[in-house]
Amino acid sequence: MLFSLLALGLAASYARASHTLRFACSQLVTERLDPLVNPGSNPSPHMHQIVGGNAFNVTMDPSQDIAEKASCTTCTFSQDFSNYWTAVLYFRARNGTFKRVPQLSNQNIEGANGGMTIYYLSPDNKTTPVTAFKPGFRMLAGTAEQRTNNSVNLFRCYDGYDAKMNYRPNPMGVATTDTTDLPQKYCAGGIRINTFFPNCWDGVNLDSANHQSHVAYQTGADCPATHPVQVPQIFIETIWNTGIFDKSLWPEDGSQPFVLSQGDPTGFGHHADYVFGWKGDALQKAMDARCDVYDASPDPLVFPASGCPQLTTQDYAVANKCSQKQIAEEDLDDWGMPITWT
Ligand SMILES: *[C@@H]1O[C@H](CO)[C@@H](O)[C@H](O)[C@H]1NC(C)=O
Ligand SMILES: *[C@@H]1O[C@H](CO)[C@@H](O)[C@H](O)[C@H]1NC(C)=O
Ligand SMILES: *[C@@H]1O[C@H](CO)[C@@H](O)[C@H](O)[C@H]1NC(C)=O
Ligand SMILES: *[C@@H]1O[C@H](CO)[C@@H](O)[C@H](O)[C@H]1NC(C)=O
Repeated sequence: MLFSLLALGLAASYARASHTLRFACSQLVTERLDPLVNPGSNPSPHMHQIVGGNAFNVTMDPSQDIAEKASCTTCTFSQDFSNYWTAVLYFRARNGTFKRVPQLSNQNIEGANGGMTIYYLSPDNKTTPVTAFKPGFRMLAGTAEQRTNNSVNLFRCYDGYDAKMNYRPNPMGVATTDTTDLPQKYCAGGIRINTFFPNCWDGVNLDSANHQSHVAYQTGADCPATHPVQVPQIFIETIWNTGIFDKSLWPEDGSQPFVLSQGDPTGFGHHADYVFGWKGDALQKAMDARCDVYDASPDPLVFPASGCPQLTTQDYAVANKCSQKQIAEEDLDDWGMPITWT
């Protein structure tokens, strides 16, 4: 089961020393599009929140290098025009209507407009550096239909945060209180969802029919023989401001009221999509240099942006300006039910 892989492999590699690129990507747009799973569908079956380059579109032709098409990015590394997106969280009211849960910015990136924190990890004890993705590469972590416990996600329930968006409690790495499904209790400081992508590639295919079989999760010391090429371990963090829906609004039986945009009340179906779009060989250079940047902001927590002279950064104020108008136009903040509830 994926979860045991996660527990044994990914979570462990995340907790142990790795070279880490950690950076913020502000919100680009929230809309019902999914150019990976539902290319050409406007609207797609359910809502997503999207960060990264502004070449995001209904269809994204893999033969076109989006780093060449995009003119700006919401990411603090200004060479990253990739797109990253996830399902969206909704609150279900007692009368059965739904309201979108807003996003919070992440720890120490309080200037960023919502969005996500993106990590690229590479093991620090390998003699050969990891291989960066190629233009046209894309993949999916998790599946919208999943409703049982083999998740690629970890959920953390926060009871609060300070003005610098330092959340509490916030143990490093994986906490024993992290869950693989939506927390069952009230989380005044928000719910953080970490989603882990596969880190092994077949070395040939930029995509596959289910957007997953060309990649695999590492379980032992090396990638499996079927997927021998070690690529960066991407994982992404999103924090949902669940605290604004206080317990007086919850169902009378006390059950947790949050539902993912594809109609999933468990959280096991939380999923994330990645379309590679780093400019030229910038990502490979950063991996070769084994860069450590914990926060590419002017106010770094651990490693400064200068920890990676191979990459260039932009301020949050600039990144925040790169946003897209909805292509699939829809009022996001109505009390209403998303149209297709699968
Ligand atoms: C999306 O694709 C359409 C059709 O090719 C194009 O007209 C439009 O400019 C694209 N939008 C963006 C934001 O690239
Ligand atoms: C449903 O409940 C919410 C939250 O209490 C409220 O704001 C909304 O107006 C209600 N909608 C209807 C149709 O009653
Ligand atoms: C999911 O599986 C893991 C590993 O077996 C376990 O620790 C966890 O409690 C399970 N979660 C749920 C919600 O059943
Ligand atoms: C790194 O070294 C540790 C300790 O020797 C080992 O357990 C682990 O499998 C190694 N990781 C990789 C990716 O080689």
